[in-house]
Amino acid sequence: MRSPHAILMAPSILAADFGYLADEIQAVERGGADLIHVDVMDGQFVPNITFGPALVEAARRATTLPLNLHLMMVNPESLIDAFAKAGADQIMVQAESSFTVHLHRTLGRIRDLGKSAGVAINPGSPLALIEEVLHMCDIVNVMTVNPGFGGQAFLPETMPKLRRLRALCDAAGRPEMRIMVDGGISVETAPIAVEAGADVLVAGSSVFGKPDYGQAIAAIRTAATTIEA
Ligand code: DX5
Ligand code: ZN
Repeated sequence: MRSPHAILMAPSILAADFGYLADEIQAVERGGADLIHVDVMDGQFVPNITFGPALVEAARRATTLPLNLHLMMVNPESLIDAFAKAGADQIMVQAESSFTVHLHRTLGRIRDLGKSAGVAINPGSPLALIEEVLHMCDIVNVMTVNPGFGGQAFLPETMPKLRRLRALCDAAGRPEMRIMVDGGISVETAPIAVEAGADVLVAGSSVFGKPDYGQAIAAIRTAATTIEA
């Protein structure tokens, strides 16, 4: 079931050159990005450590595009206010209760701060984890890899879940829900995800790993939008 929305391209700055972060962000903005995907990793939920509020604040100064934060961290509640203050526009927390203990309260807090709220759901997690909070979400990130690293292979077995989620949103009178796919998205895999109902495409290595970011973004968007209905 296709989304009724236009496709949004969200380059992940996890794959950018951190030594030139502002330039890298501006380059994808010029190249046609719709959002900037910021992977926050805390060294507990996943082994890596990446961006904190100070770097989000630096990213905020570099662009006027919306900053889409993916909090891969234990206890995201502890930093939601700081990330909001730093200039995040959209904040997504993991759905799994061992990381986000109070999912309902956390999403409520994000919305109280005037930000778009979202949940990210791991490949091994069932949709049941988010059904009771779907009404508080503006976006759902259906992880198409296990979180932790860029450059991993897309997991096609996540697609039936994505289809069920799109159907669930429609049945709940939420056709406006944005559904993101995150991990291994490329010219080859983007059409598969869009056909299943995704409309926000995160792309790290398939954008920042290419010499021309604008061309890479356009190629993925074109592949995703020219699939047969
Ligand atoms: C994985 C992150 C992804 C990652 C995607 O833990 O959540 O956002 O940056 O990278 P690619 O597009 O290279 O798979
Ligand atoms: Zn991510």
